[in-house]
Amino acid sequence: MKKLILSLILALSLSFSFAGEGMWLPLLLKALNEAEMQSMGMRMTAEDIYSVNQGSLKDAIVHFGGFCTGEIISRSGLVLTNHHCGYGAVQSHSTIENNLLKNGFWAMNKGEELPNPGLFVKFIVRIEDVTEEVLAGVNEDMTSRERQSAVDKNINGLEVEKVDYQDYMVRPFFNGNQYFLFVTETYSDVRLVGAPPESIGKFGADTDNWEWPRHTGDFSLFRIYASPDNTPAEYSADNVPYTPKHSLPISLDGVETGDFTLVFGFPGRTNQYLPSPAVKQIMDVVDPARINIRSKSLKVMDKYMRADEATRLKYAGRFASVANGWKKWIGETQGLEQTDALGKKNELETEFTSRILASDELQSMYGNLLPSFEELYANNTPYIKARIYYDETFNRGIQLFRIVRNLDRLKSTYVNNGEEAYANLAERYLSFFEDYFEDYETIIDREVCEVLLNHFYSNLDKKFLPESIIKEDAFMRDLRVKELTHQLFQDEVATIEGVRALLALDGKGFGEAIDKLYAIAFYRGVQDKLKSDISPSYDANTEGIRELQRIYMKALMEVFPERTFWPDANSTLRVTYGYAEGYEPRDAVTYQPVSFLDGVMQKYKPGDYEFDVHPKLIELYEQGDFGQYADRVTGKMPVCFLGSNHTSGGNSGSPAIDADGNLVGLNFDRVWEGTMSDIHYDRSICRNIMVDIRYVLFVLDKFGGAGYLVEEMELVHPKS
Ligand code: ARG
Ligand code: ASP
Repeated sequence: MKKLILSLILALSLSFSFAGEGMWLPLLLKALNEAEMQSMGMRMTAEDIYSVNQGSLKDAIVHFGGFCTGEIISRSGLVLTNHHCGYGAVQSHSTIENNLLKNGFWAMNKGEELPNPGLFVKFIVRIEDVTEEVLAGVNEDMTSRERQSAVDKNINGLEVEKVDYQDYMVRPFFNGNQYFLFVTETYSDVRLVGAPPESIGKFGADTDNWEWPRHTGDFSLFRIYASPDNTPAEYSADNVPYTPKHSLPISLDGVETGDFTLVFGFPGRTNQYLPSPAVKQIMDVVDPARINIRSKSLKVMDKYMRADEATRLKYAGRFASVANGWKKWIGETQGLEQTDALGKKNELETEFTSRILASDELQSMYGNLLPSFEELYANNTPYIKARIYYDETFNRGIQLFRIVRNLDRLKSTYVNNGEEAYANLAERYLSFFEDYFEDYETIIDREVCEVLLNHFYSNLDKKFLPESIIKEDAFMRDLRVKELTHQLFQDEVATIEGVRALLALDGKGFGEAIDKLYAIAFYRGVQDKLKSDISPSYDANTEGIRELQRIYMKALMEVFPERTFWPDANSTLRVTYGYAEGYEPRDAVTYQPVSFLDGVMQKYKPGDYEFDVHPKLIELYEQGDFGQYADRVTGKMPVCFLGSNHTSGGNSGSPAIDADGNLVGLNFDRVWEGTMSDIHYDRSICRNIMVDIRYVLFVLDKFGGAGYLVEEMELVHPKS
């Protein structure tokens, strides 16, 4: 008993000292993390996670399509990732008669698996620190341009040991203070094996997105195929299932509060070492600008989607992607405030300043950094705001401009490369547009156009507006925006008929025709304004900031030698670890770390597009037959769970792994209160959300009837 209490106290004190922050490089785990991980309950060694000499966990992890993560879960190349990562592939096989998104899809044998041209998975064979080679001959007197070209030259000159079918890439870390080399293997015959219906894979959709409690079965399954000698090959009927160096055993025992978990994957981008003026700019300028603009277009889309089911279907994908960033930024600003990120940055900077003041050398090297940041961020504020307005209005907001941009590009192709190049591209564009207009409604885009242009002209400084319409008076501006919207849509470029007619012309005729369009002229005016009055200053400031950030990062590491630094995410393979645990989002509210199928039923709204439940799932729930997938303690069906693993966009599809290296979950999201973890991680409210692997297998087996796939997997019981 004494021993138990002691180990409890130990576990508690450790769990309090654990900061939770960090996305670590697999090859440095031994030096930096192994001891802490083991003290938290991990029973593996760093070598079990990353090894170049023997199969290790890393051999089961893939960069999925370049935007998500996936993991190998069978000796025959089965890959698990999120539903929202496989979404495009599932969608591409869906037709109105055979809607795989809606109904789900389960290949009942290998012959039924569906190829996906363009989709690939990338393995990391080996990672090496090449900082010395890459920075050879580089010094602090160089301009940033000189520095970059010296770095590029060194990278090109690297001699990398690898076999033919492998590739490599070199990436900067710590803002260009270190460089690592990655030898990779890319497989491009990746076939769809299964996906649940959206009512499971996207249950709760945008309402539940970024939130806890969550009940989404966000998974899909693929299989990697290789040539008969197991090396990468383009799709071929002769290819065979890939045999991995490692595949993850699957634990049916689940996790409970306090259990060690690690998440292994490819987080995209974090900015953990920004100076305070940068954080302030995000909170005061960047996030509010984006949030405001997106709120406006979302409101228009929502109105039409609620009024008509066909419209709802057409716009679901677009709405989800606009809403995903929008909701994340709202949570981000709020979380930065709630955890006093700015106050903490200021504290750090005060300490930084006092430490460098103590040394003439440090003072002369780094004394200017913080004041220079202050100045550059202040200079850049109007430009960054303008850039966001242009981007959110003309690139992401009003769809008409996406169409127009492509048409203008096509004309450039004709002018630069001639008739044949034009004809080829025109053909590709035609098929793109045939798809695009399937999910497009002019009436929605027109209204978005009017609303966003109004916002653009009312809120952006006059000197950043394209000449054409400057109206001081709100009433006149309204009128002018209405008239402008009418003019923009009058030529019917925003219809498939209009686009087809244009693309049927030869290059010369096409160029002449689009030159006459009002929308093209307006779009070119917008681009000219951006190029002449915004981008030059923005680019110069941003380049200056980037250079300062490199030096600041170096300075932080020198000035705080007692701290262990992890490099910001950059879409390379990282390990993050923590505990399965809930949190307290606000006063008097506690979130439990596990959700169950009961919660799906509590959220069930018949006929609702976000919260409908499939009759078969209801039946399974009512029968309570969860087989070997039921929770061994409660007998219930677990659905999702929370952990304090520091993840980011790109970690979707990453495996959640237990203390012994078994798969226990599938990462897919973070909690709303903690989305500021990209900028300022705080263990009190930052949590990642995972699907419980037992729910994945239950859906696959009992719901999908694809239990034969479970036979391929290695199921284990580490707790019993
Ligand atoms: N929030 C998750 C991520 O950032 C999931 C997004 C997909 N789901 C959605 N409803 N938009 O990718
Ligand atoms: N949902 C994100 C992704 O798709 C993960 C996250 O941002 O936490 O990668």
